[in-house]
Amino acid sequence: MQDILTHIDAGVLTLTINRPDKKNSFTPAMYAAMAAGLEQAKTDPTIRVTVIQGDMTVFSAGNDIGDFLQRKPSSQESPALQASPVFDFLHAIAQHPKPIIAAVCGPAVGIGTTLLFHCDLVYAGDNAAFSMPFVNLGLCPEAASSLLVPQMMGYHRAAEALLLGEPFMAEAALEVGLVNRIVPPTEANAVAQAQARKLAAKPLESLVETKRLMKKGLMPQVLAQIAEEGASFARLLQEPAAKEAFTAFMEKRKPDFSKT
Ligand code: COA
Repeated sequence: MQDILTHIDAGVLTLTINRPDKKNSFTPAMYAAMAAGLEQAKTDPTIRVTVIQGDMTVFSAGNDIGDFLQRKPSSQESPALQASPVFDFLHAIAQHPKPIIAAVCGPAVGIGTTLLFHCDLVYAGDNAAFSMPFVNLGLCPEAASSLLVPQMMGYHRAAEALLLGEPFMAEAALEVGLVNRIVPPTEANAVAQAQARKLAAKPLESLVETKRLMKKGLMPQVLAQIAEEGASFARLLQEPAAKEAFTAFMEKRKPDFSKT
């Protein structure tokens, strides 16, 4: 799987999103590879920390829009997105027991931003641009972002990000606490690695227990929100507004929602 590169060194698993010609947008196979990487990190005692990174120009343009267009309606047998690779990935990252660090440069769209709410530390290049344009695509939030974004940013800033779908830059992300530090894009991946090595040198059981204790209060709500969002998302994917938004993106034109 060349679109997700996997590298293990000194107790650190690095997952590099590597589909630059499509701005690192995620296909189902890429979600499956990310979920498999996190599963390996969970069970392999030699892996203590995971780093998720893109390159210095792009983190991820979110879900592949061509893939969205091809999604079949969910059925009774396979309700919502619950049985899909994206769901496996969301469950894996939300419940991952060991530390996860992200290095983010350039665009981080959709799941490129929402996955960061499930990372423990985030280092951003000063060119990082975060956005969650779900409404602009006729969709709704995922990855429990409808719960976690208002909680982190406050309701009104969350509404700007999730209702208007307005992008925000690294400085704003630092201010609301989504990002730990802003660094030059050339240094972001190296800073994440250095922090990962610091964590990897600490007692693993203490790390795991501390993360569990910090997360346990909200975890049932996070999992319930992922499920509810998933059902709404799957329904909205089949609606005319989403079809128009995806088609417009592929045809490189503005969407026309006047008939939807
Ligand atoms: N799905 C599929 N292809 C995508 C994509 C996505 N999410 N994002 C970018 N691409 C493709 C473009 O179609 C283009 O392909 P082409 O060269 O075959 O025409 C290529 O990647 C480069 O994208 P481009 O838009 O020209 O790059 P840019 O630097 O001008 O803009 C982004 C980068 C990320 C701001 C822009 O591509 C974008 O907004 N992408 C869509 C993001 C989105 O809505 N994601 C879904 C979130 S739920």
